[in-house]
Amino acid sequence: MFVRRRLELIAWLVGLAILLTQFPIGECYSVAPRLPYRSSLFSSSAADTSQSSNNRNILSFDQAVMSRFACKSFQRANATVPECVTASPSDPEIIRQALECIDMARLAPSSFNTQPYKVVMVHNPEQKLALSRYCLGPNADRVRDADCTAVFLADRKVLKTLPRFSQFLQQQNRQMTKLLAFYIAVFSSGYPLPRILSAILSFSFRWAMSMLNIVTRILRLPPTLPTLSSTETWSTKNAMLVAMTYMLACSSRGLATIPMEGIDGPGIRRVLRIPSRYAIPLVIATGRAASPMTNLDWRSRRYPREEMIYENQFGG
Ligand SMILES: Cc1cc2nc3c(=O)[nH]c(=O)nc-3n(C[C@H](O)[C@H](O)[C@H](O)COP(=O)(O)O)c2cc1C
Repeated sequence: MFVRRRLELIAWLVGLAILLTQFPIGECYSVAPRLPYRSSLFSSSAADTSQSSNNRNILSFDQAVMSRFACKSFQRANATVPECVTASPSDPEIIRQALECIDMARLAPSSFNTQPYKVVMVHNPEQKLALSRYCLGPNADRVRDADCTAVFLADRKVLKTLPRFSQFLQQQNRQMTKLLAFYIAVFSSGYPLPRILSAILSFSFRWAMSMLNIVTRILRLPPTLPTLSSTETWSTKNAMLVAMTYMLACSSRGLATIPMEGIDGPGIRRVLRIPSRYAIPLVIATGRAASPMTNLDWRSRRYPREEMIYENQFGG
């Protein structure tokens, strides 16, 4: 019985290896839809807002990168509402700009274009106050004072969105193939199962893949199997590209931001009614800096370039 199980497992893994060899991952990426900038997705949003923004004072990309900093303290839109007691009412113009920035940030790339994230933009004073209760230490003051806080959610069960993704492809006259669904499952590990089962399945699959990779290396076969990550890592890396794009879009409009991980995820999930399938890797408070950064000496420093950036090989 035990030997039979083993043989079955080996046969299954060999079958998987053959399948992956027959359909290189790169080909599957070309199957995933690539939307033109002005596709239906952006018919009334990012493309249009970017046009309206042309009329305003938008910084160049380099200026936006250089002027971004983690803003430790925000100007309250209504200074008469006392600090630390309640959340400040938000400035509608800043809310509008923050929404424009998050709309723009949706143009960030994502694995197979599955877009496995959601963002909750919190700007209503009651909700800001509720959110601030689950932000730790000074992070709470920032949420109360800033005009808007973007709460980034990473989808740990992206396979639940396959019917929607399939419909999305059809709208672009494309088909959801079994192969594409298979690759999304392989890379994301986002199975629509209870978390514990999903974690076990993901771990077993990744372990099997690493074993096959070792065999491939020993047999000196060309590498065809990807190195996979957990579903949390996979969805978080996708969500964080959107988060960074958002911060740079804000920075280019002169809005200050601070990314914050010092939060109580379950508490935030409760007050914002976020389903448990979403991880909350980061929240970003957005508004006007209490003291704008006019002097570059303020900038937080970085390690020297040669310690961080190599050319052609690690340490090289
Ligand atoms: C993932 C992440 C989480 C962070 N969490 C916090 C936080 O909880 N509270 C805080 O004050 N700053 C937080 N920061 C801001 C960093 O401390 C800041 O980005 C860093 O010191 C570099 O400074 P700069 O952004 O001004 O260049 C976070 C930054 C990142 C990227």
